[in-house]
Amino acid sequence: MRAEDGDRQRVVPAPLPPVVTLDGPSGAGKGTVAREVVRLTGWHFLDSGALYRLTGLYCRRCGVDLDDAEAVAALAAVLPAAFGTSAGREQVWLAEEDVSGELRSETTGALASRVAALAPVRQALLQRQRDFRASPGLVADGRDMGTVVFPEAPVKIFLTASAEERAQRRYKQLKEQGADVSLATLTREIAERDRRDASRASAPLVPAADAEVLDTTELTVAAVVEHIMARLAESAEVPWTAR
Ligand code: DC
Repeated sequence: MRAEDGDRQRVVPAPLPPVVTLDGPSGAGKGTVAREVVRLTGWHFLDSGALYRLTGLYCRRCGVDLDDAEAVAALAAVLPAAFGTSAGREQVWLAEEDVSGELRSETTGALASRVAALAPVRQALLQRQRDFRASPGLVADGRDMGTVVFPEAPVKIFLTASAEERAQRRYKQLKEQGADVSLATLTREIAERDRRDASRASAPLVPAADAEVLDTTELTVAAVVEHIMARLAESAEVPWTAR
């Protein structure tokens, strides 16, 4: 785009594609809500948790000690990750290996939680996350999307739900997959992960000052999605083509 500037011409950079950030603790419904917003808008999707999960898995594969922050960050910086879909199913590859199933396991989640607490790892993944921003827009799901990765996003949502409700949702999901789990253990683990995510020094889990906090304990997925679509429609920074 060009604009007159006296007798010189200057290049006016095109505005960056819009971003809607969806942050919050695990089990608040971010992933389900984010995928539905992606379907309705046709925007790109950043599942930032997957990058931390992949980093944890890659360290395991390469035999890197998770306490060695610099070594973990060095692997995060060169993560050979690829995302795609096949027959409507999301697929994630680490190097040539399809790790879509393993990525979602509790074991990988625990690895991710450890590497996510390391500041050099967060720094190593920062630009990679920002590179997901592409036209016509981006739905970014994570913990620090609105605070650190896309602080200038026009629409920021922080989803929460009570620890009991989040444990119930996770319990139902795992039971459906045939896993043998106890609700009491899940509730304890979720409370413990919340405490670790909220108290870590690097990018703790807190809503951005300009984020809208939505408690989904009593809300359906459809109601949350409808609310977010309305927020996008009323945002002056979201081009009309996206509404
Ligand atoms: O959303 P998830 O369960 O896939 O996230 C896995 C771990 O990564 C979880 O412990 C939180 C952490 N995480 C993070 O610290 N920052 C993000 N932007 C996304 C996830």
